[in-house]
Amino acid sequence: MKVRSLNEQSHMVPDDAMRAAVYRRYGPAEVLTVDELPRPKPDPLEALVRVRAASVNPIDWKIRRGDLKILTRRQFPRVPGADLSGEIVEFGSAAVRFEIGDEVFAMVPPLEGGCFAEYRTVPLNLLARKPAGLSHSQAAAVPLTALTARRALALKPELGPASTVLINGASGGVGSFAVQLAARAGSMVVAVSSERNRDLVRDLGAGEVIDYTREPVLSRFDRYDLILDAVGSLRYRVARPCLAPGGLFVTLLPEPRKYLERIAAVFSRSRRMRIIIVEPSREELERLSAQLERGELRPVVDTVYPLEQSAAAHQHSESGRTRGKIVVEI
Ligand SMILES: NC(=O)c1ccc[n+]([C@@H]2O[C@H](COP(=O)([O-])OP(=O)(O)OC[C@H]3O[C@@H](n4cnc5c(N)ncnc54)[C@H](OP(=O)(O)O)[C@@H]3O)[C@@H](O)[C@H]2O)c1
Repeated sequence: MKVRSLNEQSHMVPDDAMRAAVYRRYGPAEVLTVDELPRPKPDPLEALVRVRAASVNPIDWKIRRGDLKILTRRQFPRVPGADLSGEIVEFGSAAVRFEIGDEVFAMVPPLEGGCFAEYRTVPLNLLARKPAGLSHSQAAAVPLTALTARRALALKPELGPASTVLINGASGGVGSFAVQLAARAGSMVVAVSSERNRDLVRDLGAGEVIDYTREPVLSRFDRYDLILDAVGSLRYRVARPCLAPGGLFVTLLPEPRKYLERIAAVFSRSRRMRIIIVEPSREELERLSAQLERGELRPVVDTVYPLEQSAAAHQHSESGRTRGKIVVEI
C-alpha cells in the first residue's frame, strides 16, 4: 500500500485519503508515525466511521513490538487501535439500526486494529450507540477493557453482597472497570494497587486496598470468591489456598505456563481457574452503555494525546503506569 509521509507532503489530505498512525516494521514506539493512507470503503454489512477518539490497550504495543507476529505475520502497514468512538459517515449498502451522523462506539478485533485513523470501517454487528453524556474520548476508553472486566465477572454470576473479590491491577484499564462492576454487584472488593492509586480505587468502590509495593498481595485475606489477575503477577498454584470453596481464579495473560496451570486446575474439585480472551460484542457493549448512562459505571481517562503523539501514547501505556485509560483524539 502506498504511504506518503505527511512531513514530505502538504497537510491537505485528499478526499480518498486519511491521516493515520501507522508502522511498517515491528519495533519500539518510534516506528509509529502519522501518514496518509487510502480511506477504507465499507463492505455491504459495514459502516464507515469518522473516528473522533481511540484508546490504547497493551495488546496494541505488544503487536507493534512483534510479540504476536506468529499471528500478525509481516503484514504492513499496520494501524494500531481496537477501541473507537465517532460518527457514521457512510454505509456499505444497508443502513441497519443506524443513520448517517449517528454517534457510535465499538471494539474491533485487536489483531486487525485500525482505530488510530480518521476513518475505520466497522461491521454493523459490532457498532453500539455512544452512551449519551459521554464525550468521544470517554466512550473510546470503554470497549475492550470494560468488556474484559464484564466477561471476567460473568464467570461468577452468583457474586453478591456475601462475596469477596480480589482485583490485581485495580487502577489499570481492566481493573478500574472490574472494581466498579464487582462493587456494583455488592461484593466486598479488595483492590491491589500502588499507594499513588489508593484514592482512585477506593473512589471506584474498593473496600480494602493492598499496596503491592509494601505487602504480599495474598497475605491479608484467604476466602476470595473471585481473584482477577489483570497483571499476570499471580500464580494460580500460589493463589489457590486463598480461594473460598467454589472460588475462581481468572487471569488475562494467556501464557503457556498459565495453560499448564489451567490443566492442573481441572483436577481440583472445588477451586478453579479460567483464562479469558476478550472478543468484540455489540450486545454486551450496549449493556455497558446502559450502565454508563445510568451513572453506574464511569471510564477513568488518564491522558488524552493528539493523533500526532501516538508514539508517546504507546510509550505511556508501555510504562505500565496507566491510571484507567490512555486516549488518542483524532
Ligand atoms: N486476555 C484478554 O482478553 C485481555 C484483555 C484485556 C487486557 N489484557 C491484558 O491484561 C493486562 C492488563 O491490561 P490493562 O489494560 O488493564 O493494563 P494497564 O491499564 O496498562 O495496567 C496498568 C495498571 O497496572 C498497575 N500495575 C502494574 N503493575 C502492577 C502490579 N504488580 N500489581 C498491581 N498493579 C500493577 C499499574 O498501577 P501502578 O502504576 O500503581 O503500579 C497501572 O495502573 C495487559 O497485559 C493486557 O494485555 C488481556
